Amino acid sequence: MTNQQSTINKIGIIGAGTMGSGIAQVASTAGCTVKVFDLNQDALDTAKTSLEKIMSRLVEKGRINSEEKNRIEGNISYVNSLKELADSDMTIEAIVENLDIKKKVFQELEGYVSDNCIIASNTSSLSIASIASALKKPERCVGIHFFNPAPLMKLVEVIPAIQTSDAVLKISEETIKSWGKVVAVAKDTPGFIVNRVARPFYGEALRIYEEGIADFATIDYAMKSVGGFRMGPFELMDFIGNDVNYTVTETVFEAFYYDPRYKPAFTQKRFAEAGWLGRKSGKGYYHYGAEVSKQEPEKDRDLLNKIFERILVMLINEAADALFWNIASAKDIDNAMTKGVNYPKGLLAWADEKGIDWCVGKMDALYNEYHEDRYRCSPLLRKMAKDVVSFGL
Ligand code: NAI
Repeated sequence: MTNQQSTINKIGIIGAGTMGSGIAQVASTAGCTVKVFDLNQDALDTAKTSLEKIMSRLVEKGRINSEEKNRIEGNISYVNSLKELADSDMTIEAIVENLDIKKKVFQELEGYVSDNCIIASNTSSLSIASIASALKKPERCVGIHFFNPAPLMKLVEVIPAIQTSDAVLKISEETIKSWGKVVAVAKDTPGFIVNRVARPFYGEALRIYEEGIADFATIDYAMKSVGGFRMGPFELMDFIGNDVNYTVTETVFEAFYYDPRYKPAFTQKRFAEAGWLGRKSGKGYYHYGAEVSKQEPEKDRDLLNKIFERILVMLINEAADALFWNIASAKDIDNAMTKGVNYPKGLLAWADEKGIDWCVGKMDALYNEYHEDRYRCSPLLRKMAKDVVSFGL
């Protein structure tokens, strides 16, 4: 793309749901003029009222003053025609996760905006190349993936498609950084960074449960008490929703041509089928009534260490493999997990701390026990152990 303007001030948001309204708040807080479009007038009304509530709460807490509240609210307008986004410097789409619908919207949008407008998608699971292919100028398309809730989560993954121009990638990175976010650039592959590297946090926890090694509460307790994670895997799956988390797992598994490392667990599938979705349905791995009811975890130190180390080494192996396949830089992989999903440490830094030899030994022990491809050690870790080097993070 030539003559690309490097100042992005006018932002168009497509979709006024959970993500679209959060991204609008981020952009308007940073001083941009934002137009939010949705097909559904109720969604626009709800987005407007919830922003006002959030802003009032921030004023009450003393985080912003009423002038800032007025400025942030005043920067956003809510529109019911896509055409209204015609003067945007950048649009970010956050509508339903459906490739055909996204492509149609992108084609229509391209008919209204200027040649220099960057057209981004907040998709979690679709390939950016496939979305970009709908455009006459696919080089203007990029993935800009926020995390929920967008105003609070520091991380944004920026994903260039094979069609994306260097200028569009650079301006997108600069814009998102200027909004106070930490950018991790990720290759256009399933799950990008976070939704790929985090899979063993859920998958290995479910496997440990299915093998009968420990119950939900004990596995959660191990990850929190030994590992320092804020939430255990089962608490987190209940928070995300078993339907949503299962779908992400299944999508990543299919997109990786059924690599056994990403295989979904029957336990979670049955929970989703039963409607035991977690907090939102009142029951998941735990009960959510007036009080949350949980089993008492086992406190046996050896058992807790064994659970934590097995899940940790699987996470480290996944992070190392993402680096091996050049999905992102080592720094971005570690930032993604600490800033996108609040891990207590970056996984590659954790690998350094534990020792690369320790990681290889643990992976090989799992492989020798199960003889499953799921437990294959990343070639990068093996080479690093041989060369006696660390990630240096
Ligand atoms: P949502 O269901 O809360 O909001 C989607 C909005 O898009 C709705 O208001 C709907 O009326 C509107 N919409 C649907 N089709 C439309 C169209 N053709 N034109 C205009 N508006 C349309 O969805 P959510 O959760 O905000 O997700 C949106 C996107 O963000 C999806 O691609 C999702 O994968 C992605 N995402 C979601 C995250 C999450 O945690 N919810 C996290 C990161 C990405």
